[in-house]
Amino acid sequence: MAHELDTVINRYGTDCLKWDYMEKWLGVPEGEALPSWVSDWDFKAPDFITEPLKARIEHGIFGYSERGDEYFNSVIDWWADNHQVTLKKEWFHTTPGSLPAIAMLMERWSQPGDKVLVLSPVYHAFYRTITNTQRTVAESKLINDNGYYSINFDDLEQQFKDGVKIMMFCNPHNPGGRVWTEEEVTRVCQLCHQYGVYLISDEIWADIVFRGHKFFSCLRVDPQYFDKLAVCIAGTKSFGLPSMRLTNTMIPNEKEAEALKSKLLAYGIDVYSAFSILANQAAYRHGREWLNDTLDYLEANNQRLAEFVGNELTQVTYRLQESTYLAWLDCRAMGLDDAELEQRLHKAGVIPTMGYGFGDDGRGFIRLNLGCPASILEEKIQRLRTVLK
Ligand SMILES: Cc1ncc(COP(=O)(O)O)c(C=O)c1O
Repeated sequence: MAHELDTVINRYGTDCLKWDYMEKWLGVPEGEALPSWVSDWDFKAPDFITEPLKARIEHGIFGYSERGDEYFNSVIDWWADNHQVTLKKEWFHTTPGSLPAIAMLMERWSQPGDKVLVLSPVYHAFYRTITNTQRTVAESKLINDNGYYSINFDDLEQQFKDGVKIMMFCNPHNPGGRVWTEEEVTRVCQLCHQYGVYLISDEIWADIVFRGHKFFSCLRVDPQYFDKLAVCIAGTKSFGLPSMRLTNTMIPNEKEAEALKSKLLAYGIDVYSAFSILANQAAYRHGREWLNDTLDYLEANNQRLAEFVGNELTQVTYRLQESTYLAWLDCRAMGLDDAELEQRLHKAGVIPTMGYGFGDDGRGFIRLNLGCPASILEEKIQRLRTVLK
């Protein structure tokens, strides 16, 4: 039976970054190419999100908007029910995406030149945020055991001893796909506490977690570790809402929470898009069943890709992701340099995010977006077969 996520929807002509801007950003002409780069998915938002938006448009007055009680409560209830975390309203800092809050926290918690540590390879924009705020990137390389990533705690501790001001944690991890365990998350929090390192945990992938894995938030560790902690959460990835531009950064330390609020006021980030608020609260309030179904769909895509790579691509390693809909393929055994690999993929009409953008440890890898109808994934597989075999 056809699944509603099987529907292929044309996104061209909607100013869509992933489809309409391949030429501008990657030099790939519009047409036959199948974009698999930007991490949003090609699924239509469900009615429980679009209906309240339509009603709001019908109302027709688009004046300044606030976050009402239902907004806070919908997020608080979702996190209590799904992640066993009790959020407090005072912890919320609502910004257009995660990076504005992250950059402001970097500016508060460190000085130009200070080291900000990432676990590499990691989400490319972290690098940009660190360097564009004139901080220095410190990388602790994840251990890669045949596609399974883990944290090198000895190295992490050594780097903390050598002087790190802030750690940027990506939990779950993009692009490695790991859902860090309770033990791993607790150890990160303990080490940050021991060495006086501020911890920014980006948890915007928390809801995209596949069967057999359990997300564990930094907000679930002992509150003694909350003093220098900020946690970014969002419905962006969970419900396909990136263009709604809305992230909540949780800061349990009262003084630090006040400081960020004051900064947001200074920048005028204290009024909100009515559409973003409505879409998010509807998603958090009504989205559980739909998300379960979507996770099953994404998991089937994930398994299909793993089966294809395992059966046919002898020089590529792929381990099933525990989280995200972004497959991380190790193509190093093909012996191609990144430019050559990219060229071949573009020629075949599959446009991934190249791994080198995620730090040096991403060289020879590609990140492939699986958030698409199964028929489009089949077409991508068909094309990969021609270049990676
Ligand atoms: C780990 C992580 N953080 C932040 C972002 C940025 O998302 P947004 O700008 O919607 O906050 C992304 C986007 O892919 C991401 O993967």
